[in-house]
Amino acid sequence: MKLISIERLVSRVLAPLGLALIATLGAGVTADVSAQAQFANAAADDVTFYADVLPVIQQNCQVCHQQGAIGPMALMTYQDARRWGRRIRAMVEAREMPPYHYDVDYGVQDLKYDPRMSDDDIATISAWVEAGMPEGNAADAPPPMTWPDPAEYRLANEFGPPDLIIRSTPYDVPAEGQDRWWQPIVETGLTEDRCIRAIETKPSVAGRAVAHHANSSFRVEGGQGARLSEYALGKLGEIIPDGACRIAPANSQVSWDIHYWPNGVEVLDDQVEIGIWLHPEGYEADYRQTLTLYYLQGGVGDRGYDIPPHGTLMTRGIHQWDTPVRLDSWQPHGHTRLVAMRMEVLREDGSVEPVSMVSNWSALWHHSHIYDEDVAPLLDLGDKIIMTAWYDNTENNRYNPDPDQWVGTGDRTADEMSHAWIAVTHLDEEGYERLVTEREQRPVSDD
Ligand code: HEC
Repeated sequence: MKLISIERLVSRVLAPLGLALIATLGAGVTADVSAQAQFANAAADDVTFYADVLPVIQQNCQVCHQQGAIGPMALMTYQDARRWGRRIRAMVEAREMPPYHYDVDYGVQDLKYDPRMSDDDIATISAWVEAGMPEGNAADAPPPMTWPDPAEYRLANEFGPPDLIIRSTPYDVPAEGQDRWWQPIVETGLTEDRCIRAIETKPSVAGRAVAHHANSSFRVEGGQGARLSEYALGKLGEIIPDGACRIAPANSQVSWDIHYWPNGVEVLDDQVEIGIWLHPEGYEADYRQTLTLYYLQGGVGDRGYDIPPHGTLMTRGIHQWDTPVRLDSWQPHGHTRLVAMRMEVLREDGSVEPVSMVSNWSALWHHSHIYDEDVAPLLDLGDKIIMTAWYDNTENNRYNPDPDQWVGTGDRTADEMSHAWIAVTHLDEEGYERLVTEREQRPVSDD
């Protein structure tokens, strides 16, 4: 696995920068071949669709690839899978599908709601295509999956109905046409600050096939917005770790950023909802969690850089907090020239630790990578994060709409951005020491 993303990084990022010619000629070329061989050899010879492949597709693909969902085709039957077989293999080997871009060989790997496929499941798909896509015996098929009712909040099982529901202003999505962005602003109606317990964004049932993603932020008078939530089909929601308070501010508004994707069916008056579960009034949390945007360009905001036609760029930002912190989640952001982003921790003693990397960035998908609480990076006072992003405005970048353009900074997809949303729990020295000690005392697991 390791070789795939190195190969990708070399060809998409470093090579255009002229940095890694030797690696491209040496390790890069063999990497592709050995990765395929690795996946193909790992599975048994007698893979069939019903016994081996269908369970994998049910678990990893059908949430989006069924009638009425956002995937461009259904992957429900043998005929569906056979028609798309080679493309499916290519997409899963490259870890393009399921669409969750987070390197498997860098930094923290224990994530919440992690839809990445196991190497074994990828090997099953590879071996099946390699073997000519045998159908096998329908009696071996697993029972069809049952899907949650899209009209219901899924977190309601755990928390009951939401305490607060925020609805986007109605929007008409045509059957055909270009992607569109809908950015209404609505009132929360909150009259005092409250601590959030959980958040779930839910598209309408009719709009499920067209609401590609929906992000939302709080807006308060005179203050910078804090990200509320981000949504893409298949994502459950967010549960704030115990003992931390994420504030839903008083007298705030929610500003939406919904990406609609016309999908063959007209949807009138569509509304996306956010369900918010609140802790009771007067809830006392030890620490506050914030979800904030951190810039990669010297902390000055998204400005001050241009990418020349057929050129590349690297941006880098360093950030330090005034208390010890725990990093809870990371969501890189950029557009079509962004190809990779990375986060590291720089300890006060000068050592550097890998945290997270996305080396196959796609601007179509926005994911917040949420670290398991047991491994979420802990930073003492004096420790810093280093964030690095690589941009490629050449024709080597397959998402590049036009390599002849100068690319400046801005909101449009044709412009670029360089920042990450990071959820941070702000600790004190005592809380930091307690978490470090708890981890040291935890029994070491075999893996
Ligand atoms: C979260 C929703 C989602 C999941 C889960 C998902 N897909 Fe997709 N898939 C999409 C969307 C949307 C597109 C079209 C846009 C794109 O390519 O990103 C797509 C595109 C594809 C394509 C390319 C179709 C083409 O026109 O070339 C293939 C193949 C594919 N998916 C296979 C899979 C497989 C196999 C899985 C499971 C291993 C999977 N997808 C999981 C949403 C999803």
